[in-house]
Amino acid sequence: MKFFLDTANLDQIREAQDLGIIDGVTTNPSLMAKEGIKGQANILKHYVDICNIVDGDVSAEVIATDYEGMIKEGEILAALHPQIVVKVPVIKDGIKAIKYLSSKGIRTNCTLIFTVGQALLASKAGATYVSPFVGRLDDISQDGMELIGQIVDMLNYYEMGTQVLAASIRSPLHIIKCIELGADVATCPLEPILALLKHPLTDSGLKKFLDDYHKLNG
Ligand code: E4P
Repeated sequence: MKFFLDTANLDQIREAQDLGIIDGVTTNPSLMAKEGIKGQANILKHYVDICNIVDGDVSAEVIATDYEGMIKEGEILAALHPQIVVKVPVIKDGIKAIKYLSSKGIRTNCTLIFTVGQALLASKAGATYVSPFVGRLDDISQDGMELIGQIVDMLNYYEMGTQVLAASIRSPLHIIKCIELGADVATCPLEPILALLKHPLTDSGLKKFLDDYHKLNG
């Protein structure tokens, strides 16, 4: 399973890239705002900066919500860098925009997916990725992981070619569940990825190895 880092923070992207554990980055307008990136020129430059740090796909989201606006923005974003994947919301004009962009060879990530039906429409339109939001479903007492399983099964059964990019991933358990269910990618902040490293037997085992070494070697 691939890991994408879900942030627009360049330091965190550098840290994860240096660790050698990420396969791409996802951003959204909220994550860009969190980093204080404003104004069209700065926003576009920030996407290029991310592409220059990380190997792999970088999702950049359109702001327009009408068809013409989305395809115009999508083409501008895609022209920035070959690693850019245009992120489009799963609304009616978004589906049309995905169809258009994919016909032009521009890769897309259909975002804000909360049902298997939305994922079906995005995939039929030619989306490279669909992004079901796990944590936000959990937040309203629905099982976000169940949705990941449904979408993985549907896309595999019908051999539709779209990759499942599990989004709104907030814990190491979410990541493990994504692996069990066969998600292609999980995108999450750095913390839950690093939390996968933690185990008390690793810590105690390492301490014992080093204690035994130092008993003899000083
Ligand atoms: C990524 O593509 C999504 O925008 C992101 O994972 C949403 O995460 P959140 O629900 O924690 O904001």
